[in-house]
Amino acid sequence: MTKSDRANFGSKLGVILASAGSAVGLGNIWRFPFETGNHGGAAFIFIYLGCILFFGIPIMVAEFVIGRRSRSNTAGAYQKLAPGTHWRWVGRMGVLAGFLILSYYSVVAGWTLEYICEAATDSFEGKSAAEFIASFNSFVGNPWRPVIWLIVFLLATHFIIVKGVEKGIEKSSKIMMPILFLLLIILAICSVSLPGAGAGIEFLLKPDFSKVDAGVLLGAMGQAFFSLSLGMGCLCTYASYFRNDTNLPRTALNVAWIDTLVAILAGFIIFPAAFSVGIQPDAGPSLLFITLPNVFQQAFGSLPWLAVLLSILFYILLALAALTSTISMHEVVTAYLHEEFNLSRGKAARLVTGGCIVLGIFCSLSLGVGKEYTLFGLTLFDLFDFVTAKLMLPLGGLFISIFAGWYLDKKVIREEVSNNGTLKLGIYHIIAFLLKYICPLGIGIIFINELGLLK
Ligand code: PHE
Repeated sequence: MTKSDRANFGSKLGVILASAGSAVGLGNIWRFPFETGNHGGAAFIFIYLGCILFFGIPIMVAEFVIGRRSRSNTAGAYQKLAPGTHWRWVGRMGVLAGFLILSYYSVVAGWTLEYICEAATDSFEGKSAAEFIASFNSFVGNPWRPVIWLIVFLLATHFIIVKGVEKGIEKSSKIMMPILFLLLIILAICSVSLPGAGAGIEFLLKPDFSKVDAGVLLGAMGQAFFSLSLGMGCLCTYASYFRNDTNLPRTALNVAWIDTLVAILAGFIIFPAAFSVGIQPDAGPSLLFITLPNVFQQAFGSLPWLAVLLSILFYILLALAALTSTISMHEVVTAYLHEEFNLSRGKAARLVTGGCIVLGIFCSLSLGVGKEYTLFGLTLFDLFDFVTAKLMLPLGGLFISIFAGWYLDKKVIREEVSNNGTLKLGIYHIIAFLLKYICPLGIGIIFINELGLLK
């Protein structure tokens, strides 16, 4: 494919929204709260913020540089910038990670569709916290319903992917992001004003660093990569469609703060409500789905129509946020198959969708009827989550930082960061330093620590 017939993001706002649309998703609203809950609250958040700042932002700039410079899918990008070397394996690992994440992420995305229906049919009314937990468990344990929703969700992703980059991704991001933001703020205000919410706020703000162990560090780092869509060439693939005048560091900063704000808001929705109704913060992947209906129920109990309306709107927006993320993962794998194997875009997309449906079904069943089949003590769903978010993405990030910090010609980074000298270079020096020293060392130490080698 030549440079000129590759797609482009139309406007600057489109660039930011599409990248933020990839970043903002279930990672912020579903995964961030349950990881925070599993790892003790405020101290985890503190470390997470450090990871965003010191690893996330520089590595995002590096992915942008690699993508826009090469104007290629993520594996092709390394081939162009480092021909004949093994760096292309970093891109290939990213493609594999994208494929695996898409498979289990779509399972949870499917749950949001079920909850749209439940909200619309008034199923939340009059239920207690215990009943919400029971109904979630019975839904996830059902062999059919989650699988059907998963397939519906992947087909929706597929549909947008084959419609093309600009029309599909850009338009959908532009409409939904601002509305989602507003609704999150409203829900956070409702949640913190519930009776007994104070304990949840304390859980979010009062760090207890004595509980920080290797698992907390790895969890926070993995969450930072997952939430920012980093380490698998997703933003690298998106950057290959950026215009030449897109300001890369500024886009990275904007995506990072939007993403972080959404995650923190989600925390302020989930924990005050969870503490208020007596749901354990370490309930795991079910946390969002068992806590949130309580917020609608408790905060708007006296106005049932408003509770129904807001809950439908919320789950629709959550599904759309998940959709802009699944699109971005799908695009990584589709662009790779399309450009590297000369498949048509349609055929490439069908292969990805089909493969993800099969793997996704296994992931979904592993939470219900297949619960007793575990590997290393983890269900297939949890295994996919662990291997991708905690191993593949940070490892990808580590290699990307080494590639940009040590291998790639400084001139390339300087040109891309400054748009060929038209922007100031101040931030370049900070990013170059972080990429060269702080990211490889920091990520490396967290990995080594996790293996127990530092004790
Ligand atoms: N960042 C997305 C989210 O927070 C998930 C994602 C991970 C998307 C990796 C693309 C690549 O939901």
